[in-house]
Amino acid sequence: MRSDSDLDPLLGGFDEDAARTVKRAANANDFEGRAGSLSECFVDDGEQTRRVVLVGVGSGSADQAIEKAGGAVAAKLMTSGETRIVFDATGLDVDDASSRMAFGALQRSWRYDAYRTKPKPRSTPTVTEFTIVGDESEADRWPHREHVYAGIALTRELVTEPPNVIYPESFVERCRQLEEFGVEIEVLDKAKMIELGMGALLGVAQGSVKDPQLLVMRWDGTGGAQARPVALVGKGVTFDSGGISIKPGAGMEDMKFDMGGAGAVAGAMRTLAGRKAKTHVVGVCGLVENMPSGTAQRPSDVVTTMSGQTVEVLNTDAEGRLVLCDAMHWVQEKYAPEVMIDLATLTGAIIISLGHEHAGCFSNDDGLAEKLLAAGKESGDKLWRMPLGKSYDKLLDSPLADMKNVGPREAGSITAAQYLQRFVQDGVKWAHLDIAGTVWWKNASNLWDKGATGYGVRLLDRFIADNYES
Ligand code: BES
Ligand code: MN
Ligand code: ZN
Repeated sequence: MRSDSDLDPLLGGFDEDAARTVKRAANANDFEGRAGSLSECFVDDGEQTRRVVLVGVGSGSADQAIEKAGGAVAAKLMTSGETRIVFDATGLDVDDASSRMAFGALQRSWRYDAYRTKPKPRSTPTVTEFTIVGDESEADRWPHREHVYAGIALTRELVTEPPNVIYPESFVERCRQLEEFGVEIEVLDKAKMIELGMGALLGVAQGSVKDPQLLVMRWDGTGGAQARPVALVGKGVTFDSGGISIKPGAGMEDMKFDMGGAGAVAGAMRTLAGRKAKTHVVGVCGLVENMPSGTAQRPSDVVTTMSGQTVEVLNTDAEGRLVLCDAMHWVQEKYAPEVMIDLATLTGAIIISLGHEHAGCFSNDDGLAEKLLAAGKESGDKLWRMPLGKSYDKLLDSPLADMKNVGPREAGSITAAQYLQRFVQDGVKWAHLDIAGTVWWKNASNLWDKGATGYGVRLLDRFIADNYES
């Protein structure tokens, strides 16, 4: 904010006294309009006092900044005692800005209180209503946003639930609600997987008392016109103890979110079906629990995948790729997808590379990678391209079987991707998104409280809307 008068176009709805108070408060708060910064004050409004919150969107007024500004307002007001927030960004001269703000606020207000038997002191939500100020276009676009939010909420719920509650069979049950939206659900149980020869997925599951499941969710909004669907494949390890190659105790609790890829696929299906997207998508979740026990697989076991390729399992903690390779092979055999995108909390190494801001994107097709990266930028679920190559692939050669399930310590995320690529069939455009760093944040942001972020839903929704529906 360079001067008081910069605020004038935004304060059209206020009388002179109120406008003066808002400007003075902005000065007193040293409010300059930096993205996400707030200035709060109270003004007289007839019989009542009204709370006015100015929120900065930075100089560029980028879509993302507007969404985050809405989130910042929600974080400030959700438990303030206020019951209604009016979003008015009409002074910004950015298309659809008020609805974007409200969308950010909706994302930021998600919380999961299912396990609280008493309300957390001073943190009871009070806001129950959003009002969006704008023209018709805001109203037209709102339903789409609500469906994206519903998808994000489903993903966050699945990721937040503890692993004694969400395990393969209960994950499937939680997703049955998608049938209401026209999603066709098919479930392959353990017996079916044995029949199909999914030795890699089954090897991971064999240490757990929980049976594995392959959950298949199909949405066709084209009435059969698009024969080859887009396939989404999610890693759904409902708890990853590491198996016999057991993880250290410190931080092991994080491994309840090792189903974040499957959670994102389920959430994206909710969004796409909810808004009746004009596309054909198949979402497949490989659901298993990775546990150590007398029946668990051993480091050095050799398993035969559904593709027929054999794998020497040298580390039972590199289990995600074992689950994905059979799920990926199955969906290619059954649906001949043109494009296949897998999402997985696959490696700790990607967090070392990219931290929590970007997920890693590996692809055999530059066009597909570009489209995904663009959708990442637009949606806020950011991606960074990572390399693939023959010399990385060689690191997986095994002296005994067709491949090992782990390479050396270096380039751990890349060798994991190379492993997956060995299961991609000719002609299939494939991308692997390593989302280990982005599904769970230890700190709050403008769009989520600490915990599950819902990463992937906005990305996939954008990717489909931009490339398959026009
Ligand atoms: N689920 C983990 C990866 C992970 C780590 C996700 C931290 C989120 C946060 C995966 O199954 C795993 O254990 N990967 C190993 C691979 C290694 C054994 C080659 C890893 O990253 O250490
Ligand atoms: Mn693991
Ligand atoms: Zn894992």
